[in-house]
Parts: sequence; C-alpha cells; structure tokens
Amino acid sequence: MMTKDTSGDVRLSGISKTYGSFTAVHPLDLTVPQGSFFALLGASGCGKTTTLRMIAGLEEPTSGSVSLGDQDVTNLPPYKRPVNTVFQSYALFPHLDIFENVAFGLRRRGIKSVKKQVEEMLELVQLGEQARKKPHQLSGGQQQRVAVARALINHPKVLLLDEPLGALDLKLRRQMQLELKRIQTEVGITFIHVTHDQEEAMTMADTVAVMNAGRVEQLGSPADLYENPNTTFVANFLGTSNLIEAEVDTKSGDEIVLKAGGGKLSLPAARCSAPTTTGGKVLVGIRPEKISLTHADDAGGIPEGRNRITGKIADSSFIGVSTQYVIDSPVCPEFEVYAQNIDRDARLIPGADVVLHWNPAHTFGLDATQDIDAGVETVGEEASA
Ligand SMILES: Nc1ncnc2c1ncn2[C@@H]1O[C@H](COP(=O)(O)OP(=O)(O)O)[C@@H](O)[C@H]1O
Ligand SMILES: [Mg+2]
Repeated sequence: MMTKDTSGDVRLSGISKTYGSFTAVHPLDLTVPQGSFFALLGASGCGKTTTLRMIAGLEEPTSGSVSLGDQDVTNLPPYKRPVNTVFQSYALFPHLDIFENVAFGLRRRGIKSVKKQVEEMLELVQLGEQARKKPHQLSGGQQQRVAVARALINHPKVLLLDEPLGALDLKLRRQMQLELKRIQTEVGITFIHVTHDQEEAMTMADTVAVMNAGRVEQLGSPADLYENPNTTFVANFLGTSNLIEAEVDTKSGDEIVLKAGGGKLSLPAARCSAPTTTGGKVLVGIRPEKISLTHADDAGGIPEGRNRITGKIADSSFIGVSTQYVIDSPVCPEFEVYAQNIDRDARLIPGADVVLHWNPAHTFGLDATQDIDAGVETVGEEASA
C-alpha cells in the first residue's frame, strides 16, 4: 500500500510576529500540503515576507510553531531546515560562472563530483547552453532561473520564493510564471510563493492565501476565491467586483430577494456569507464579466428571471478582446461591465441608457458591516513590493 508522502508538508500553528507594539503577523494556522504550489498574496506590508522568513528560520516567531513533515523545526537554525529561499534580488555570485553558481551548495557540503547534478539542474531550468557565462551576461529571467537552480540543487523539501519575479518586465514575468510552474510540477516539491500580484498568484498556485494586515482573510483555489469571495477585501483585491448595498426583502428556500434602488435582486442563499434577517443590509456582489448590457430600447427582449439594473453609460474603453464599460446607476455609482467583442452594438456609447442584467446564480452576498472599498487599489499605491 502506498502511503502519502508528507515530508514536505508545511504546518504553521498559531505562529505570530510582533515588533514592539506592532503586530506584523497575527496568530496564523496554515497547512501547506507536500507537493503543492501555494501562494501568499497580499498588498505590500501585510506580513508575507515575515511569514516566509519564519518558515525559513530567518525570523524568530513571537508565538507558535513551524513543522516540516512531522518534524517541529521552530528551534532549528535556517541551515538545518530542509528549506531554501529565492529572493527578488537573485544575489548570484558575480565572479563565478553559472555552473559554479549552481554548484555552490554542493561544493560547500564538500561534494567533489558535481558535474552530473549541476548539468541536470541547468537542463531543468533550460540553461544548459549558458553554463560558462557570468551572471551579468544573462537576462533577468535567466538569472532568476539560475537562482532557482542554485536553490533546488540542495534538494530542499520546500522552496520559498519571495517576489522572485518582481524585478522583471511584464512579458518576461508571464513567461517565468509558466516556467516556474513547470519546474515545480517536474520536481514535485512544495513551493510557497509570495507575491502582491493577484494575476500571478492565480496563474501559478493550486492554493492561494489572501493576506490582509497580518491575517489570512481567505484561502482556496484561485477559481474558488474569485467566484466565492467571503469578504469585501477579497472581492475587491482579487479582480474587480461590483458591490451594491441592498436590503433583505424576503427569504424563501434557497433564494434571497433583496431591495436595491427601487428594484429587486435575487441571490442564492448558499452564496451569501452574511447574516440575513428581513430588513437587514447585505452587500450584493457581481463580477463585471458576468453582466450583459442591453440598450434600453431593447429591454423588452431580456429574458425573465434575470437580475436587472438600469443605468447610463459613463465611459467605455475598447481594449481589444473586450470593451470595458463604466455605468452610472442609481444603485451603484461606478458599475463595471466587461463585454467580449463579438457583435458590438454601435449604440452602446457614453450617454446611452442601458439595462444591465445577469443570471442570479452569479450573484454573491457579503456582510454589509464591512468597508465596501476594502482592497480597492487606489491610483499611486499599486505594484510596489
Ligand atoms: N524588523 C522589523 N522591525 C519592525 N517592523 C518590521 C520589521 N520587519 C517588518 N516590519 C513591518 O512588518 C510589516 C510586514 O512586513 P513584511 O512581512 O515585510 O510585509 P510584506 O512582505 O507583505 O510586504 C510591515 O509593516 C513592516 O514595516
Ligand atoms: Mg515582502
């Protein structure tokens, strides 16, 4: 009988970190299963690096414990943990060639015959041809792959990656995301990847933990987090959500009917993470790509049973595969709608009166006591690591 390999499980129990009176990481329980690609996602300053450094042993936790497999490593120094870290600054040795950079960990352990292992590692990261170059002769993406090879040659149980692609331009970053995912699948070890880029986390990870102010707000697969956010922070930070303030009108079976701006909206009870008492407030959420836009003159043709809202197009941007509309509506001042460019209705231009409508099944409900704008990226503070 095969027993499941758990030697690369990472288990954090009640782990926290305070600096003086400031809590960088609140007590955190988290299990990352062996062989998974796990992402810690959150804005700058939310405690991602601190969490990673506690796993690596570079930071002493204020409370709690860290286990790898069935070994409690909380009191082990970094070099005794089966963990390696790749940082944004690759920190390659500039005077050594690529081969020797990758061989470094083996040589330090006194291993003499390194050729075969180094060559295999260079093949894995597709740098076999570059072995005798110096780091400065490689592109940023290639240097980052050297850093990954240099870490993996030590056969860690867990590889930690702290914003490893942050210094690369967008196109290269996309390529490297796929490349890192391929490498992880090939070596099959646990990767914990820290990033502030939600697209990056969703592209690469099996499981994403969304962090906010030192806490994990929600954990799940990318699709689950996107479709079923439990908080306004997750709804706004992961992609875009339209959130409407509404009031519970009636509840029957698995349907909740809400009043919003004079109209009614239907919400599946199973998709509502908020308490619902009649007359109570709920935030109704709908993703921009789930909404259809119909010119008001054609509103009669909209099928029965869809949630609908009226509004006026305030702005539209053509971005190739889709057109992104901003709609002024009595229930929500800046409603976002993304329409695929298949058959474009020439009347859908700024100033046009429209009806927004969608399948009620795509609606989710959130607790209205939260900040409706939590996690909204404001101009000027985006994309710094
Ligand atoms: N050595 C330290 N002393 C005091 N505050 C720190 C220290 N290291 C990190 N912090 C603070 O802890 C918070 C979390 O930091 P960090 O884990 O680096 O965030 P992230 O990696 O998500 O950007 C930040 O507010 C940061 O300023
Ligand atoms: Mg960081």
